[in-house]
Amino acid sequence: MPIPGRRAAADATAGARPAVRAYDIGMLEPASDTSTGTVPRNGLPAIAFDRVSFAFDDLVLLDDISFTVPRGAMRFLLGASGAGKSILLKLILGLMRPDSGTITVNGQRIDNLPEDELLRIRTDIGMVFQEIALFDSLSVEQNVGYRLFEEMRMPREHVRRRVEEVLGFIGLADYIDRMPSELSGGQRRRVALARAMASKPSLLLFDDPTTGLDPITSITVNDEVVKLRDLEGVTAVFATHQLRDAFYIATHEAVREADGTIRIVPADDKATSAEFMVLHEGRFIFEGNADELLASTDPYLKEFLYKTLPPW
Ligand SMILES: Nc1ncnc2c1ncn2[C@@H]1O[C@H](COP(=O)(O)OP(=O)(O)OP(=O)(O)O)[C@@H](O)[C@H]1O
Ligand SMILES: [Mg+2]
Repeated sequence: MPIPGRRAAADATAGARPAVRAYDIGMLEPASDTSTGTVPRNGLPAIAFDRVSFAFDDLVLLDDISFTVPRGAMRFLLGASGAGKSILLKLILGLMRPDSGTITVNGQRIDNLPEDELLRIRTDIGMVFQEIALFDSLSVEQNVGYRLFEEMRMPREHVRRRVEEVLGFIGLADYIDRMPSELSGGQRRRVALARAMASKPSLLLFDDPTTGLDPITSITVNDEVVKLRDLEGVTAVFATHQLRDAFYIATHEAVREADGTIRIVPADDKATSAEFMVLHEGRFIFEGNADELLASTDPYLKEFLYKTLPPW
């Protein structure tokens, strides 16, 4: 029997018409508590799962799991293909509903919210879908600026400037007038990243964002994620098979020099603040930092890491 709220992932931007909000277009300013019109979030975790379970019939993906992600923190979600990583992200976005337990996002319980209220919650979340989910009939500019123009009613010339800015971050400024069909797979993925960042959400959900990207472009994307975390205070959950990218982000930090330039540098202490969670058979079999993950003696984790990290 179909379960209400259970459906394939839709493009989170489609159909949403939340309240207009004031918006400025400068370089990425820190997200403020009043920017979204949602409830105040000071002191509350960005995400809280409390005893959440989720199954497709006999396939149990989440079995009574609890975790919190503090504001401004980053979590890497690891696990084999089919473990339930994408489903977990869709639960945070309210595209799926848990069988039991509660999910709180930015201080508001969302697992029992009606769809129109979920749309409001989603205005402060940027999601990069694993399946990319661009609108094929819209240009790159329209895809990236969709939320700004359609949902936030930002003036068209401001949308253009912001779209140019975020496309610049990921090296695609020259592609603003192309259609998705005129892009490579990796370029489409980067456009999806730009779209997620465009509205400066306080919470970003990345579903395997660097798969299909060449190593140099992956580093560019990783550097943007580091900047968002360290300079904008964005909270992020990062589901990935690319452990190299996860470790890079976990062990680097963004610093702003006196002349205003931003550099990405190795940072030993970041290795302790970026937490990894490994999902296996409905449970987190590991929660800890990069060093602890590498030092784990758990047989499944050792095999998982052995197969995904060099030397092979
Ligand atoms: N709508 C659905 N109906 C039934 N089963 C589903 C549905 N969506 C996903 N599944 C199943 O749920 C399981 C978890 O899927 P999910 O997409 O979360 O995996 P994942 O951990 O993201 O894997 P990958 O690393 O391959 O992206 C898979 O076995 C998948 O086949
Ligand atoms: Mg997935």
